[in-house]
Amino acid sequence: MITQDVFSDLASRIGEEALAKRLKLQVEYAATMFGNGRGGLHFENLDSLSTAARIGLSLTGLTSKCERESLNFQIEHVNVDLTTLPHQFDGLRILHLTDIHIDGFVDGGKKLQETVRTLKFDLCVLTGDYRFLTYGPYDTCGNKMAALLEVLQCELGTYAILGNHDFIEEVPFFEKTGVPVLLNDFVELDLGGHKLYVAGVDDPHFYGVDDLDKALDGVPNDACVLLLAHSPEMYKEADEKGIDYYLCGHTHGGQICLPRGIPVITHGACPRYMCSGAWSYGAMQGYTSRGAGCSGVQARLNCPPELTIHTLRKV
Ligand SMILES: [Fe+2]
Repeated sequence: MITQDVFSDLASRIGEEALAKRLKLQVEYAATMFGNGRGGLHFENLDSLSTAARIGLSLTGLTSKCERESLNFQIEHVNVDLTTLPHQFDGLRILHLTDIHIDGFVDGGKKLQETVRTLKFDLCVLTGDYRFLTYGPYDTCGNKMAALLEVLQCELGTYAILGNHDFIEEVPFFEKTGVPVLLNDFVELDLGGHKLYVAGVDDPHFYGVDDLDKALDGVPNDACVLLLAHSPEMYKEADEKGIDYYLCGHTHGGQICLPRGIPVITHGACPRYMCSGAWSYGAMQGYTSRGAGCSGVQARLNCPPELTIHTLRKV
């Protein structure tokens, strides 16, 4: 249950003006095509598009295959060479989960939990989109996420940001289980007095409530900085601000793809090469995960869901 205290706490963290802006956008735009962010028109918010996809899969006999593929989790291992990384963090393993949309899973998220249990990681980051729909109740999603968060415990902790499917009222569900949500904020990880910074922005795609300057306020200029952003759409600004590694999702890699994983739709205002996997822009490296879940329709085709382990290397 959301109480007045929740809004008071959020207002004291991000400011009354920023909170009012996000709440207003949530009320007015959450289920519409028109957002405030970088994504232009948001066809992904239309129920009719989901219905059309469901009918299309049914007519082509692909429903069962695509539902099976939606639970066919792939573990992607990525090595990331960083010159600014303090050597104490050399070999750090980061589990990156994104676009979980946990209340959409046909098995309630059981297989995802089982898959996570098989992984070894030192730090976990969650880059948004925990809810299946972009509107409506979020308590089912919060309760299911709480169960998943229990298996994400690791030495350096789990940190989250919000995506375009998330309401800011979801924040207490995370934080009562010990997972801080970075709302245009950063956290300093310390190993033996040496620091690695993880900054996180609020959703840049639909709500347009990201504030990278605020997220980096207080981070030393020569620091090694990882940025958590829901979508890749902040790539130019992030490179200009000296981000070393940009972790994101949102695109689902296309979710329903042509053979060889070629997306039909990516829902991202960025170059197509940034819509899945490792990429670079200027001096910055980045990675866009295909995500663990689905939105619109619980189906994947030629685009299996992904859990990513990033291993940082000092070079
Ligand atoms: Fe998503």
